[in-house]
Amino acid sequence: MIQRPRGTRDLLPPDTRLWQAVEGVAREVFGSFGGEEIRTPVFEPTELFVRTVGESTDIVNKEMYTFPDRKGRSLSLRPEMTAGVARAWIENHLGDRSQPLRLYYIGPMFRYERMQHGRYRQFSQIGLEIIGADTPLADAELLAAMHEFFVRLGFLDLEIHLNNLGDPEDRGRYQEAIRAALAPRRAELCADCQRRLEENPLRILDCKVPACQVIAADAPGMDELAGDASRQHVAKVETHLQRMAIPYVRNHRLVRGLDYYLRTVFEVVSPQLGTNTVLCGGGRYDRLIADLGGPAVPGVGFAIGEDRLVEVLPARFKDAVLARPAVYVVPLGEAAQTQVLELARNWAREGVPVEVEITGRSLKAALKRADREGFRVVAMLGDDEISARTVTVRDLVAGDQSAMPLADLPVWWRALTPVSPPARRGNV
Ligand code: HAM
Repeated sequence: MIQRPRGTRDLLPPDTRLWQAVEGVAREVFGSFGGEEIRTPVFEPTELFVRTVGESTDIVNKEMYTFPDRKGRSLSLRPEMTAGVARAWIENHLGDRSQPLRLYYIGPMFRYERMQHGRYRQFSQIGLEIIGADTPLADAELLAAMHEFFVRLGFLDLEIHLNNLGDPEDRGRYQEAIRAALAPRRAELCADCQRRLEENPLRILDCKVPACQVIAADAPGMDELAGDASRQHVAKVETHLQRMAIPYVRNHRLVRGLDYYLRTVFEVVSPQLGTNTVLCGGGRYDRLIADLGGPAVPGVGFAIGEDRLVEVLPARFKDAVLARPAVYVVPLGEAAQTQVLELARNWAREGVPVEVEITGRSLKAALKRADREGFRVVAMLGDDEISARTVTVRDLVAGDQSAMPLADLPVWWRALTPVSPPARRGNV
């Protein structure tokens, strides 16, 4: 039997309902902050990621799906979106529009990861990029939008870790300081970190190997060596966050696994997943567009790992989405068969989610199924109802049954379910 490739997943109902609901909240929240959706190709020239994410990063070094096309051009499946968004910004002259642009995206990314819980080779990110604003207020707005998204999903216990990565001019000094601090313990580092010590010592702070993490704890924090400009920038971001009562912690070891960041960087971790499994990561990348040959336009953004997010969704949100809200319409007898389809169509047009019994189950079997599947309401239509232009409805939660005019059902349903998932607002 043919099986799906390792590291990929089939998302099946009813879980796909959770994915839709999460994506609905993302569109609603990011849209309400002035965000607009951007969709870019799933594959790009390999060079795009080498130049942005960075040659010495794990992502480019060992995790990209890279292949030549039939004309021998090197292409890669996108391991992340920010590079593609920056490329699209330049290529489509988005700088001609009024800035800033707030661009959000939802889609699959690809990384050849070692198999581990919460790591997939195809995974989905939900991200937001604010391009064309270099102020601390832009970072704060971005973080506020992110925080609001998590709040609407009902998360109470997430931690935002924040750091200042300094400006690129400070980077050399910082790399040297880490190298000097860690060189005496070179032999204790993993093979990758021994290489990183030469090529890019900053990356050692990001290593997931426990022994390396212990050693990295002795490295100096970036903020100590950063210049005044970046320190003031991040301090202002912090002030905004404090005033908005958005909780965060300063984490001087946070460096992120991609090369384009400067100044503000952050990650969101969930106590359920542990600090090694990051739910969301992002930061400022003011040189990225210029490095790709565009104008000097700043940007700041984040991406949330949707697979990991769905795994730790708060129970209240999950239960509300997974509860089967539909009206189960059961025809009783021949004459009602076509009528139920028409009825269902009319109700559906008024926004009532309906499911028709089409397999010929008896009423008894249908009621049993309704119970098992968690339907809220069963609507029964037989000869008597047809001649009286009524329908008999049973509310399975309240446990009562009554007849009502056909046209009344949508109003009655709305009263029963004042807010219906997934278009729910912030009351989950
Ligand atoms: P990243 O930290 O590489 O950042 O990825 C963001 C999130 O994607 C991670 O926190 C994680 O939740 C999820 N993720 C990454 N790899 C996997 C995987 N193999 N399986 C499941 N989930 C995964 C970026 O990609 C940047 N582009 C974020 C950004 C946007 N920075 C500025 N703007």
